[in-house]
Amino acid sequence: MLTGKNILLGVSGGIAAYKMADVASMLVKQHADVHVVMTEAATHFITPETFKVLTKNKVYVDVFDEPSDDPTCVPHIQLGRSADCILIAPATADIIGKIANGIADDMLSTVVLPAGCPVLIAPSMNVYMLENPIVQDNIRKLKDFGYKIIEPALGHLACGYDGKGKLPAPEKLVECVLLEAAKEKDLAGKKVLVDAGPTEEAIDPVRFITNHSSGKMGYSVARVAAMRGAEVVLVSGPTNLGTPEGVQRIDVISAEDMYQAMVKEAETADIIVMSAAVADYRPATVAENKIKKNGNEDMTSIPLTRTKDILKTIGNSKREGQIIVGFSMETENLIENSRKKLDSKNADMICANSLTTEGAGYKVDTNIVTLITRAGTDSLPLMSKDEVADKIFDKIKEL
Ligand code: CTP
Repeated sequence: MLTGKNILLGVSGGIAAYKMADVASMLVKQHADVHVVMTEAATHFITPETFKVLTKNKVYVDVFDEPSDDPTCVPHIQLGRSADCILIAPATADIIGKIANGIADDMLSTVVLPAGCPVLIAPSMNVYMLENPIVQDNIRKLKDFGYKIIEPALGHLACGYDGKGKLPAPEKLVECVLLEAAKEKDLAGKKVLVDAGPTEEAIDPVRFITNHSSGKMGYSVARVAAMRGAEVVLVSGPTNLGTPEGVQRIDVISAEDMYQAMVKEAETADIIVMSAAVADYRPATVAENKIKKNGNEDMTSIPLTRTKDILKTIGNSKREGQIIVGFSMETENLIENSRKKLDSKNADMICANSLTTEGAGYKVDTNIVTLITRAGTDSLPLMSKDEVADKIFDKIKEL
């Protein structure tokens, strides 16, 4: 949510400007106060009226058309100074060149210069314009000055060419704004390591053993940690979920792959949250070829062997100051069984979630979790998985 946040959208004159109506609308739904500044060229692709209706705020185009009842208010300064985050999208070669070189000759370029907040720039243009070394040099310059560049997407461009230069989807642009502006950066300077999703344990080249985990809880933990300013590494088993903005994702398949990746990343992590549903057993051997029915009429069982307990391994080699959080999924004696895992795995907190309560569990976006630490037990009501993630980090801060 962006409640109480002032988000300034800078729209310059590219065909993708039409997508910004969606972005403005989605930001308003996140409770942001959205202000829009357009270049004159942008008004050829979408009208100021569209943004005015969506945002309920005046839309600025001309720097000399700044009517204000308050003579002490200078809108082109005020707009930049009062923004919590500025998103310039689509950013044409022209506006990129202006900002990179300190030129302020229209309302948008003028508003950006005095800004004190994070400025996100989403270049969007023809692939050959984008590859032009002058444009590339300007983009590099902007990065060096601390502007954040949202990489253009690959695809079929409106000019008929295929290549890099598309404005990313509105959902992605909104996620980038949320990453910058939604939360206080109270985890800045911390490395958070998260594991999520199921693992797959091969039986033969065709079959595997897995579980129902969707990865949603772990992805929420990673997303919220990034929004709170942490450097986040997400070790993920196979899921259908998109990587949250600002998160480095390492894909793994089996419990052994996950073990290797987690143990390596844990060496430098400050906070480790282990929400993955790691297989406890794997087939003792993996058949080289597909197991056939013919000749195996009596095969009624697959010999299994234990996998490594990742949480326990990392818990037992915990560094001074490191915080380790595990999850616990139970169908009976939830709190009692989960509390035991605090000691058996040397964790600082266990987040216990029941599989049997409505609104909790694998596939849904909500969860009912009890946070168990050595200091006590905190039973949270039904809430979104993002909210649960926030509560986990609030509790970690108490620890
Ligand atoms: N876990 C792990 N490695 C494993 C198994 C579990 O790191 N091989 C972690 C999970 O990610 C979770 C915690 O241990 O954070 C508890 O997992 P859970 O499946 O609830 O408990 P188990 O330890 O596997 O015990 P049991 O299955 O007997 O309940």
